[in-house]
Amino acid sequence: MPDNRTPLETTAERLNIGGYHRHVLLCAGPKCCAEEDGLAAWEALKGQLKEKNLAAGERACYRTRAACLRVCTEGPTMVVYPEGTWYHGMTADRIPRLVQEHLVEGRPIEEWIFARNPLGE
Ligand code: FES
Repeated sequence: MPDNRTPLETTAERLNIGGYHRHVLLCAGPKCCAEEDGLAAWEALKGQLKEKNLAAGERACYRTRAACLRVCTEGPTMVVYPEGTWYHGMTADRIPRLVQEHLVEGRPIEEWIFARNPLGE
């Protein structure tokens, strides 16, 4: 059976775009944090999403490493949508708790949130 999908459609399907319930964007610096701290946080986030099986399913979460989220202080900076919870200081040591409590259990971590911008309400 011929595959009539375009390369773009094939890529979107491979990435499960359309199957996500959350999107987490993490800035890895260099202005809001040292690049090494940002990269360590990013690697921790990737590992935790994989460990918790959040690539697909009812809690599926897409991840994006951002070059800058325009806050540029007290990073690494993170925002989680659709809740629109903006987190500061998201170093690698905080990532396991963030993934478990917010992304798995749906409970944002109040003491790390510095701003809110929920979408779709
Ligand atoms: S460099 Fe991280 S928010 Fe700007």
